[in-house]
Amino acid sequence: MSKSLIVLGSQWGDEGKGKITNYYSERADVVVRYQGGNNAGHTIVFNHQTYKLRSIPSGVFNPKIKNILGHGMVINPKSVITEINSLKELGFECHNIYISDRAHVLFDYHIEIDKLNEEALKEKKIGTTKNGIGPAYYDKVARVGIRMCDFVSSDFKEIYRFTLEKKNIQIKEMGGTPIDFESSYQEYQKVADTLRPFVCDTIDLLKQERKAGKKILFEGAQGALLDVDFGSYPYVTSSNPSSGGALCGSGIGMNHIEEAIGIVKAYTTRVGSGAFPTEFEDETSHYIREKAHEYGTVTKRPRRIGWLDLVALNYSATINGLTGIFLTLIDILSGLKEIKVCTSYQLNGKEITTIPAKDSDFACCVPQFKTLPGWEEDLSHVTCFDELPENAKKYIEFIENYVGIDVIGFSVGADKNQTVIRKEVF
Ligand code: IMP
Repeated sequence: MSKSLIVLGSQWGDEGKGKITNYYSERADVVVRYQGGNNAGHTIVFNHQTYKLRSIPSGVFNPKIKNILGHGMVINPKSVITEINSLKELGFECHNIYISDRAHVLFDYHIEIDKLNEEALKEKKIGTTKNGIGPAYYDKVARVGIRMCDFVSSDFKEIYRFTLEKKNIQIKEMGGTPIDFESSYQEYQKVADTLRPFVCDTIDLLKQERKAGKKILFEGAQGALLDVDFGSYPYVTSSNPSSGGALCGSGIGMNHIEEAIGIVKAYTTRVGSGAFPTEFEDETSHYIREKAHEYGTVTKRPRRIGWLDLVALNYSATINGLTGIFLTLIDILSGLKEIKVCTSYQLNGKEITTIPAKDSDFACCVPQFKTLPGWEEDLSHVTCFDELPENAKKYIEFIENYVGIDVIGFSVGADKNQTVIRKEVF
């Protein structure tokens, strides 16, 4: 059994990570978010209640689990406080949250600039969640960001004044409304006072936990195909949801990562713009969208629907070094006569099994499908692989054979109990 596990989305996000991460977080001593921010919306069903976590790791419900918001994240402090307050109202004390002092703070001006950027891009817009994620990472890379250690320090006022002045010039130039320094500073000062007790050196904390032999779970947000380096650029998020992000965004060394499990939806969805070769829109996609309620957790946008893309999954397996696949939402496919899976693309008359770098080339890829027979049976009560209908078994085996990685578990419903584990890894 491994001591360190990365659980990440292998597609374009919304693979049902919340539920699977929750399964593993119950076996962890430490849960770490290493990238992204409150653009994530991890839905967790706990004690028959549904929770939607945005920035806080999914181990928060268990007071014994330490939950780290790693420095690879961009943290909206107001949103974290809202999350903490709503968790407290539900009876969770939240004493088990640790925020990296190196994490960048996401301010209101980032949100304003995100909206203005999107408006300026018109039909070329990224389709962001408008939470300010891109502008916050932009500042980090441009070395003009404000980190948690600055935010909770006595010189925050001067740092904020200096930065906001420049941001307001940008906001005005873009046609937006500048942010008032005095009132926003007063508000942020209170927020900083509330969060100060949570802020610490999480790199050292992680080291101590690892040395003490604790089990550490790294919880990816979004998905590998939205990765700023590996995804369908520019229609990506601004962080590294892929497994490499867990190293850069938390401070764990590569020799301390043992397993990387990719969450894979049994079909594919995407929100926002960008190429999506296996996308289709007909009565079957409508059936899938309504049955699985494929609408954004954060933005409520209807998700685009496509068949499972094994070329993309293979790519994801490579860049993440996946050691196992966890298949979700296979129950949704019950009732379909036929199920398609993409095994290659045709691009400019050539068959390819890789993803082209250029999004416009990716958009021109014509998926080559293998059509597999579907099944009628409801899967919601399935408790082991052998109970699956033959065609569902064949579907899983087809994926395993193509990617060369075991499907170590699958999920047949939203409830915690509707999870079938074929191999324990953590
Ligand atoms: P941003 O992360 O808000 O900048 O959005 C960039 C792209 O990532 C857009 O296509 C979003 O729809 C997508 N995205 C961001 N967060 C998520 C998520 O949690 N699930 C799925 N897509 C996401």
